[in-house]
Amino acid sequence: MATNKTFYLETFGCQMNAHDSEKVIGTLRQEGYRQVETEEDAGLILYNTCSIRDKAEQKVFNRLNDYKKLHKQGKRFGVLGCVAQQEGEKIFERAPYVSLVSGSASYRKLPEMLTRLEAGESRITGLDDRQTDETFETEFTARQNPYRGYITIIEGCDKFCSYCVVPYTRGKERSRSSSSVLDEARRIADLGYTEIQLLGQNVNSYRDPEGKSSFAELLAVVGEVPGIRRVRFTTSHPRDFTRDIVEAIDRVPTLCDHVHLPIQSGSARVLKRMAREYTPEWYLERIAWIKAARRPISLSTDIIVGFPGETEDDFIQTMDLLAEVEYDCVFAFKYSARPNTPSLVMIDTVPEEEKGKRLQVLLERQREIQRANYSKQIVEILEVMIEGANAQRGQIAGRSTQNKPVNINWTQPIAPAPGSYLRVRITGAYPNSLIGEMF
Ligand code: SAH
Ligand code: SF4
Ligand code: F3S
Repeated sequence: MATNKTFYLETFGCQMNAHDSEKVIGTLRQEGYRQVETEEDAGLILYNTCSIRDKAEQKVFNRLNDYKKLHKQGKRFGVLGCVAQQEGEKIFERAPYVSLVSGSASYRKLPEMLTRLEAGESRITGLDDRQTDETFETEFTARQNPYRGYITIIEGCDKFCSYCVVPYTRGKERSRSSSSVLDEARRIADLGYTEIQLLGQNVNSYRDPEGKSSFAELLAVVGEVPGIRRVRFTTSHPRDFTRDIVEAIDRVPTLCDHVHLPIQSGSARVLKRMAREYTPEWYLERIAWIKAARRPISLSTDIIVGFPGETEDDFIQTMDLLAEVEYDCVFAFKYSARPNTPSLVMIDTVPEEEKGKRLQVLLERQREIQRANYSKQIVEILEVMIEGANAQRGQIAGRSTQNKPVNINWTQPIAPAPGSYLRVRITGAYPNSLIGEMF
């Protein structure tokens, strides 16, 4: 048996996956494993996978293909995450050198699965699907960032949008107790973290199993933890976006001036076919609440172009919505037909080329919107959390409370440490970032 207790882990996909990996790394270390930087150096090679779109899913099979030769040296392979849950034992057929396949709803069983792996078993599965009510919590989380700490507050999804794999890959919606979330927030604040990011597929669908706090109340108490200067939360679902979230942001200064609220499409007809269960009007009402807040709250969204049956007119409605909301950031994707999902049987009417064209048109228009938005901030004084330096350009880089990248021209010999906060005067703007100098 040649796992020699070293592992390599590569992560694909969303922040939930990135944070799951932090918990998986912590669990492996606790079991006596050491992390290494390359596949070649590892006894156990793990991929934490994403299957949100076909391209994402293909990445893991490409990786497995590239490195399968290492199996001959006795190295073991494990596939974790959303592709693992989705494909299950089929992965063993497609890649017989894989020994472990586990979805995120089974990670609490990792120590047991590792013991079986070490004993030489070769077809180990953790495929708890929608049955499980448990969340994955560990005190050994190996946080990769020393000042921004992720905390998962809700796992899974019960919304079943017609295009989406997540309800199948992540299991049913289940929240952690507010007291365990608050304990973790206090614990990481004591370790010196100043920013907390609360995570969930739909973070604002949070329902405290202890019945103590609503999502807005939880936001507020986390924001009041001594030492915490910034609290972010992602992703919010329009269906569950309540007015008290905006009231909490108004009341608690540490809650960041940013809401990510995916719309997916500006057409009521398409939203219906997507099973999003809201209309553009319902969505825009929530946007109006956010825009009426006392502080300027930055808005971002996700869009899918080329959903089956999306007409030119539907697409124009999406473009009109973008113009109306004036987002600071848009993540736009071409529709990708996914296994198990209801939209798979809908006829994919929009040719690939047309999807690409719509995506291009949308991104170009959005770039102009952002150019205008960002340039309005010139001369403002912002607080920036420093993330790193770009020595070549003589700049240090950070983010504003609105989550906008800010590059600061820096001429002094010593740059401020990552994780520190600076007051910065904005002197220039691009469509995706601001330029500033120390105030
Ligand atoms: N729970 C969040 C989204 C999580 S998935 C929400 O409901 O808003 C992240 C984004 O991936 C989605 O917002 C959507 O825009 C995109 N996405 C999901 N499934 C997709 C698919 N089949 N094809 C293209 N994009 C997809
Ligand atoms: Fe997917 Fe919809 Fe759930 Fe978001 S709400 S994760 S898009 S099913
Ligand atoms: Fe991908 Fe799974 Fe996240 S499908 S986007 S890793 S929830």
